[in-house]
Amino acid sequence: MTTERKAILTIDGQAPVDFPIMSPTHGNDCVDIRTLGGKTGLFTYDSGFLSTASCKSKITFIDGDKGELLYRGYPIEQLAENCNFLEVTYLLKNGELPNAQQKTDFESTIKKHTMVHEQLTKFYSGFRRDAHPMAVMTGVVGALSAFYHDAMDFSDVEHRNVSFNRLVAKLPTIVAMAYKYNTGAPFMYPDNDLDYTANFMRMMFGNPCEKYVPNPVLVNALDTIFTLHADHEQNASTSTVRLAGSSGANPFACIAAGIACLWGPAHGGANEACLQMLEEIGDVSKVGEYINRAKDKNDSFKLMGFGHRVYKNFDPRAKLMRKVCGDVLAELGLQNDRLFKLAMELEKIALEDPYFVEKKLYPNVDFYSGIVQKAIGIPTEMFTCIFALARTVGWMTQWEEMITDPEYKIGRPRQLYMGAAKRDVVPLAQRG
Ligand code: SDX
Repeated sequence: MTTERKAILTIDGQAPVDFPIMSPTHGNDCVDIRTLGGKTGLFTYDSGFLSTASCKSKITFIDGDKGELLYRGYPIEQLAENCNFLEVTYLLKNGELPNAQQKTDFESTIKKHTMVHEQLTKFYSGFRRDAHPMAVMTGVVGALSAFYHDAMDFSDVEHRNVSFNRLVAKLPTIVAMAYKYNTGAPFMYPDNDLDYTANFMRMMFGNPCEKYVPNPVLVNALDTIFTLHADHEQNASTSTVRLAGSSGANPFACIAAGIACLWGPAHGGANEACLQMLEEIGDVSKVGEYINRAKDKNDSFKLMGFGHRVYKNFDPRAKLMRKVCGDVLAELGLQNDRLFKLAMELEKIALEDPYFVEKKLYPNVDFYSGIVQKAIGIPTEMFTCIFALARTVGWMTQWEEMITDPEYKIGRPRQLYMGAAKRDVVPLAQRG
């Protein structure tokens, strides 16, 4: 909230101008510069938004120095240990964890929306079988907005709730269909006798000819992976969803924009890139060569799964993901998995290297997630789809917070124009 403290700006000896300072529950104080342009004619320049708070939010808090992540005030470690993904979904949306009845009611509500319109299945056949599943996801999720004319007044809380439930419930079905389409196997309809994550695994790995019996250890691992990816304050894809939504675009279109942004290798595509990097390194003996390449300013290679805009300590999700990875590999008898051992060795060497220590580059959520997903049987190109499935919860929660914010306006940043000075058009006949 706004404090009595002020930031005083004095420009070129002119009369000082003051701006209020806002103090959060946790994290950095903020200078409220919304009147800067009007008072001084100046803009701030902050490419990449390294020092810019784009909104007020009550959903997620990250302390990058401590390596802390809170969903609605609860540490991610405690949520991963004590709650399943739908409980966390309920928490993110409603601000409080559900009691037993609320949990049961929410789970049955989600189950009512797991199927997709039969016409939606036709969209898949327009793609090549080898299309990247994130391209398919971007198209199919965007197409959802063509199916729900019954609930498009987002000033109506019921329309917002049904859209939230539809997206949370249908993303697993859509992701699994993208995988089945890629393999040429038949689509699997949801089986609502199964819980959320087991249902997803059956749609991914089951087939119409046999009963699918989910492995509880793998289901629990994937459910935890969903929780770890659910939200992460104002990251690039969430900011994309907020900006798209600030124009009044419907949530299906906004989520499709978030999926498109998440696909990038610097963001959600890093888990796929990280596994490809580990495969390329191949052996512990080559780790030094790649560490040197990551440090070489003339080499664009970056250690995928390392570094973070906010975390300057361990990403708490990476520690939890490493534990999940160990549990899954043990369950599958893959304790000696080559890539897992290589990743742990790479982590050890990098964390002892002065370059990584000085730049505070630690493993992030993507470093181990590819290894554990591969062990579960999820193909590499599907990793970011899994990320998008889980992050849809955070995107929708942040979207709703944005459109119900009394200060909500369309996002419209300005710029530092460095182009040609104003000039007159020379008629064609006179142009040299
Ligand atoms: C996610 O924002 C979020 O919250 C994202 C996310 C979420 O849940 O939504 O947490 C998910 O996107 C995790 C990040 C996944 N991406 C990667 O693992 C890709 C590899 N990481 C880098 O691309 C990078 O670390 C970023 C993109 C993650 C962060 O980049 P920043 O904050 O813009 O930092 P930077 O690129 O300016 O790096 C600072 C310095 C640079 O060196 P100098 O120019 O200061 O000399 O550190 C170096 C960088 O070259 N550096 C790396 C490095 N990451 C940063 N050097 C080698 N290997 C790396 N991985």
